[in-house]
Amino acid sequence: MTVLSIQDLSVQFDDVVAVNQLSLRVASGELVVFLGPSGCGKTTLLRCVAGLQQPTGGHILFDEREVTGLSPADRNVAMVFQFVSLYPHLSVAENIAFPLHARGVPKAEIKTSLEWAAQFFKLGDLMRRRPNRLPPGDKQKVALARAVVRKPSLLLLDEPLSALDEQFREDMRWELGKLQAELGITTVYVTHDQREAMSLADRIVLMRDGKLIQNAGPAEMYANPVDRFAAYFIGSPPMNFLSVHRSSGRAPWLVDAEAAEWPGPNSAVPLQASPGLAARLDKIGRDRFTLGVRPQHLGIDGANGGSRIAVHVVNAFTVGHDHQFDFSVGGTLYSGMPAALPAIGARVDAVMTDDHVHLFDADTGDRFDV
Ligand SMILES: Nc1ncnc2c1ncn2[C@@H]1O[C@H](COP(=O)(O)OP(=O)(O)OP(=O)(O)O)[C@@H](O)[C@H]1O
Ligand SMILES: [Mg+2]
Repeated sequence: MTVLSIQDLSVQFDDVVAVNQLSLRVASGELVVFLGPSGCGKTTLLRCVAGLQQPTGGHILFDEREVTGLSPADRNVAMVFQFVSLYPHLSVAENIAFPLHARGVPKAEIKTSLEWAAQFFKLGDLMRRRPNRLPPGDKQKVALARAVVRKPSLLLLDEPLSALDEQFREDMRWELGKLQAELGITTVYVTHDQREAMSLADRIVLMRDGKLIQNAGPAEMYANPVDRFAAYFIGSPPMNFLSVHRSSGRAPWLVDAEAAEWPGPNSAVPLQASPGLAARLDKIGRDRFTLGVRPQHLGIDGANGGSRIAVHVVNAFTVGHDHQFDFSVGGTLYSGMPAALPAIGARVDAVMTDDHVHLFDADTGDRFDV
């Protein structure tokens, strides 16, 4: 299978730098997800790999062979988009076989491929039908089958599931993972949905404004985000960020209370740093920083000796078997996931699991490695 290398790639449209000096490598048989907010350059980058977009700088290599100037037809890549286009006048089987006929693949081989596709995607009776009336999930399966039967060197998928409803999406995600594992085909999958990325990816390439922010496995990215953007983009509910400053008063650290739009007390709240956190704060030696902690690592009370702040519960509810509580400091709302549901209005200690507390530079958002 093909190794994809992207080296120092840039794409500029007039005054927009859609892809900014980006380098990465996708190993043979790997499934890499390009993840990032709308407009960060995911599609543009994928189109460069497919040969549909010429970069303004940099190189693309398949198996160390330069393909940067080659047309899409000379790259043998398959691309599937959000909105499927199937030939309405052809049956499902004819749609799937189309790229094979176009390449003059022998009839017997086409038959074998169609049997494989029918069985793998459970298309059975649908094979003889016209695609028009098929539900969106089935259409997407046909598009996928058509993409993979010709054994492309790379499979490129641009938000292929985002037009499907949630239930279909889960099924298709599973099918896709299975397909990719069975065929071992090197795959790039574009999405702005972090859940999709986390569940599918061998590795995630997180992008922002055309730049690569972090390139890591899902677990690594969740545990060690490189900066505040990565920390916020991955994980649900999103990470809490508390602005903290040093104080000359009795409590050495205070959580800022800056937003005044919300009702409620607007005074800074002491952060009681555990000895472990206090040592880390000494190491970074800043008077201001941003503390990041995921709701999953923020409970109530607890005897674990973690760092804490005293807060009022403004909201408490249960989702599935997770409890969540919200509290506000100076108008900013934060969330935690306690073992037991507190009463709304109760005054509690919100306690952090210290091992999972991240410290970020208040100005740049970079994570301190302490
Ligand atoms: N053909 C074009 N001409 C001019 N600007 C473009 C063109 N294609 C993309 N852009 C701009 O380049 C940037 C990146 O766009 P791109 O479509 O690659 O983002 P994306 O990450 O795929 O976003 P989305 O999640 O919305 O699909 C955006 O600012 C977009 O407006
Ligand atoms: Mg896009």
